[in-house]
Amino acid sequence: TLDTSFAGISMKNPTMLASGVMGETGSSLCRVSELGAGALVTKSIGLEPRHGYPNPTLVEFPYGYINAMGLPGPGIELFEDEMKNALKCNVPVIGSLFAAVPDDFIDLAAKMKEYGASAVELNLSCPHAKGYGMEIGIDPVAVGKIIREVKGSVDITVIAKLTPNTHLLLDVAKEAEAAGCDCIAAINTLKAMAISVEAKRPVLFNKTGGLSGPAVKPIGLRCVYELSEVLDIPIIGVGGIETGRDVLEYIMAGASAVQIGSAVGRRGLSVFNDICSEMKDLMEKNDIQSIKEIVGVAHV
Ligand code: DHB
Repeated sequence: TLDTSFAGISMKNPTMLASGVMGETGSSLCRVSELGAGALVTKSIGLEPRHGYPNPTLVEFPYGYINAMGLPGPGIELFEDEMKNALKCNVPVIGSLFAAVPDDFIDLAAKMKEYGASAVELNLSCPHAKGYGMEIGIDPVAVGKIIREVKGSVDITVIAKLTPNTHLLLDVAKEAEAAGCDCIAAINTLKAMAISVEAKRPVLFNKTGGLSGPAVKPIGLRCVYELSEVLDIPIIGVGGIETGRDVLEYIMAGASAVQIGSAVGRRGLSVFNDICSEMKDLMEKNDIQSIKEIVGVAHV
């Protein structure tokens, strides 16, 4: 069976929609759940509305995307209606949040709880937004402080989404766990750049962006494997997952569930159902009865 549960979240299959893709409106979130996702993560929401960066914000390669959207979104107040619609779809909805200081994370988490989110995912890992994301997420002490304050103020499951853009990933994760974090999601995108020879300048308006897709899969897999050796809390594996085989690799590395983002663009919206049938086939061929029995089995 494909069902799984961890950190108080129950899923009919271990695939979740990753933050940033189709997560801005209730109706787009619902469409993804109808097409087979076991849970949904919203686009990262902040306190205030933001336009994000001017175009170009996305560049596509055979091996993945580089994007720098600039955390665009309606802000938490206007997101209430979207959450209401997303929740009608009867799969867990996880609210992704970004902020610069602990008090703002507390306010956002309290709102997401009020809106009915099953958990909040703190985006401590956007690779380029000034003052947000990875600028905080590479500092174990800052991450510990945010998680401790959120867990001390709001009764909700907290997932910390961490960045691979540091040699301190394991230290950040251990601090998060010590601060009461319920679950780690890894990895967010890798800081990257594309340059146009014709224009003689960086392609993206923001110059740098986050690399996602197949290029990052071996890095994500290594991060999950290493994290699971030092953590007791569950891990959500993210990074370049495109097939049922990729999911099983992440689960065997120690993930309890996975998130899928770029593959929605690369394989289309049928990706969740396709991946689930690929998983079922592979599990049958390899005498695997359940997801839970293979979490972390690759550790030797
Ligand atoms: C953005 C945020 C992210 O967390 C990421 O990995 C890439 C891009 C953004 O909104 O710009």
